[in-house]
Amino acid sequence: MRYVTLDEAKPNMMLAYRVYDSFGHILVNNDTMLTEQSISKLKEYGLDGVYITDSLSDDICIEPVITPELRNEGLECVREGNIEKCQEISKEIVKQILNNDMLSLDLTDLRTYDDYTYAHSINVAVLCCIIAFGMKMGEKDMEQVVTAAVLHDLGKLEIPDEILNKPGRLTKEEYEVMKTHSTISYELIKDRWDVSAQVKAAVLYHHENVDGSGYPSGLTGEELTILTKILHVADVYDALTAKRPYKEPYSPFEACEYLMGACGIMFEKSVVESLMKYVPLYPKGTLVTLSNNNEAIIYENIGIHNLRPIVRLMTGELLDLSLPETYNITILRKSDDKFDPIASEDERRKMLGTPQKKYRIMVVDDMASNLHAMREMLKNLYDVVPLKDGYKAISQIKDHVWPDLIIMDIDMPKLNGIDTARIINEFTGGKIPVLYVTALCDKQTVMMCHSMKAAGYIVKPYNPVFVKSEIRRILRGRSDTE
Ligand SMILES: [Fe+2]
Repeated sequence: MRYVTLDEAKPNMMLAYRVYDSFGHILVNNDTMLTEQSISKLKEYGLDGVYITDSLSDDICIEPVITPELRNEGLECVREGNIEKCQEISKEIVKQILNNDMLSLDLTDLRTYDDYTYAHSINVAVLCCIIAFGMKMGEKDMEQVVTAAVLHDLGKLEIPDEILNKPGRLTKEEYEVMKTHSTISYELIKDRWDVSAQVKAAVLYHHENVDGSGYPSGLTGEELTILTKILHVADVYDALTAKRPYKEPYSPFEACEYLMGACGIMFEKSVVESLMKYVPLYPKGTLVTLSNNNEAIIYENIGIHNLRPIVRLMTGELLDLSLPETYNITILRKSDDKFDPIASEDERRKMLGTPQKKYRIMVVDDMASNLHAMREMLKNLYDVVPLKDGYKAISQIKDHVWPDLIIMDIDMPKLNGIDTARIINEFTGGKIPVLYVTALCDKQTVMMCHSMKAAGYIVKPYNPVFVKSEIRRILRGRSDTE
């Protein structure tokens, strides 16, 4: 079997893996042919793609980590908010994963728009269990973190649908409502004797960042338990790789880049590293293009690093990329690469109903090389205005050339980034969001950014995927990681 996106799917392709709706009803069964109608029905349900089988892929078998029955049961418990059953399911998830001798996250989850919160909770539970396993935790601790994952977003069921599933920008007020979900989840379990304090803490604090910039309490890494940190990483990884009404899914590769780029800011590094042991950057059954221009399907991932898989060429020939004679062939990209930045930005604008507007971003940095790098990275997506010092930025703003966002280097001679932003804020009433860039990631710098009501900050050397996601998050008023 192999994965095709619904844009590539064609009538008469044979479905290899059945697709369920959020109630566990079968939408399209396996071993049936796709038709025009079934493809458009699946698109309406918000699926990104399906598994098909053909002569090139009929011996590629991709096993789910937990059985579809258990997954559906889990969805049901979360939907009902049945906490007792959620705990039973959590134990069963751990049992199935421990009994699975080939732990692999190759199978792309086939989920629909309407079941996002339920499917997300179960996915996060599976990811938590695998991270905990990778960190050599015992079964009891695994059960605790999986339980926290199944329960962590129960509060979202109380967030009004028009906010939860809004296809575009959340207003500031809506985002504040959205942020209450972790506290609501906690309220639902806080008085239960059968839910441990560890689980309660992980649920309440699953949006806290290790640098203290998260919510609801702004706790830092030292104050957060390891279970909370695991839940946070798993939660964000699954949110990034999901297709949502307002964004395309990140590939596993992109999501890993994001997680790595946010270590020490949002996440604990050891937790991210544990997840990366099990995430196949190129999942089995996906189509890729090789550096010799051949198209190929990922046939098998060997070992735990997954960078040198065995691939099958369109001629049927197998190539083991871990062998010395093929080691110089590299995987250039996924053939259905959705991360064409221009196309995705266009689509995002369409969704937001602002077809022509190109956001203007002012970048203030005293180093010409940094300005150049930032401009190259962003020029296809935004109008970039690079400026060498804070005085120039202030004078542009005073001339009423207001950008939609300022990316501000903190460490500049003469007038530093914080003082520059303070003067700009006084002039604009704080209306322009500021994303700070700093070489330091210490508590004092973080506190300084907070006191300036920073829209965010990035640590040098920065990771391009993380920077772009942060910019999108700020401009859109909602996060890819929600
Ligand atoms: Fe959440």
